[in-house]
Amino acid sequence: MIDEMDFENRLVSMESLPEDDGDNPLRPRSLDEYIGQEKVKENLKVFIEAAKIRSEALDHVLLYGPPGLGKTTLAAIIANELGVNFRITSGPALERPGDLAALLTNMDEGDVLFIDEIHRMPRTVEEILYPAMEDFAIDIMNGKGQGAMSIHLPLQKFTLIGATTRAGQLSAPLRDRFGMLMRLELYTPEELGQIVRRSARILGVPCTEDGSLEIASRSRGTPRIANRLLKRVRDFALVLTGGEIDEQAARIALSRMDIDELGLDMVDRRMLLAMIEHYRGGPVGLETLAAMIGEEAVTIEDVYEPYLMQIGFLSRTPRGRVVLPAAYQHLGVPMDGQQSMF
Ligand code: ADE
Repeated sequence: MIDEMDFENRLVSMESLPEDDGDNPLRPRSLDEYIGQEKVKENLKVFIEAAKIRSEALDHVLLYGPPGLGKTTLAAIIANELGVNFRITSGPALERPGDLAALLTNMDEGDVLFIDEIHRMPRTVEEILYPAMEDFAIDIMNGKGQGAMSIHLPLQKFTLIGATTRAGQLSAPLRDRFGMLMRLELYTPEELGQIVRRSARILGVPCTEDGSLEIASRSRGTPRIANRLLKRVRDFALVLTGGEIDEQAARIALSRMDIDELGLDMVDRRMLLAMIEHYRGGPVGLETLAAMIGEEAVTIEDVYEPYLMQIGFLSRTPRGRVVLPAAYQHLGVPMDGQQSMF
């Protein structure tokens, strides 16, 4: 029904775009530069310091929470603070046990291996990860059939940092092998404002405090979105309002991009409106909702719903998703069934 919409390039998408990756100058390099997640940061400082004093590898860390909150950034910072190499891969990239074995056998003592989307690792790979994490050794099969031999390979002591949007999908044996489970939370508008001002400084764009807070309050608690919006607002400010990002420039730019005061874009609004129009606000089953907006159910659960639930626009009930009164009010739709205006 809403198939004409361009989900891949949503400005408020929490999935990373190519511009987010690689040598991104906006990424903080140390814990002191990293804004927000105070509890996680304070604890990490202690654990990193202790590992350094003991000259031991840091215990394995699992970072979990919604996408775009800086899990990869934090993992790179941990390696940087420890002064070790940082190797990066992802669950889906590790197709066979040999893929993981190749990485593990090339690590130096204390190095950090980061596995993003660790919940998507194949079972066969997960099984060789257990002894690797616990005993720093792997057993791999060499050859086939009758002549196959199991080879025991000791590994250097390393640190695994896993990241996932869904800690609940991890198997218990894997979860139990992490010494630290750290949950990243959505950022407050003030923290996002600080992130926007820091990024603006790095990009060399003048940005007032009000301007940064205007961008921050429309970024769904997510630094990745805040930085992406900053770059687009910068373009509008340069061309339309003289270059400086102040509150007015940010407002003009964000409304021109159809991002409203709460950070909802056309997709969010039309998803909510379609639920209201076609299902009287719900309950709508997750699969129906997925078909309606042409997205996978897991993406709706991980990416779109957390923020809509956090701001009280949507609730999950046993019978399906329900649009809440605050959403009707925000969208200017009466709750009395007269939705024919759409
Ligand atoms: N860029 C992205 N996330 C950040 C954070 N938490 N602190 C500073 N800059 C960031």
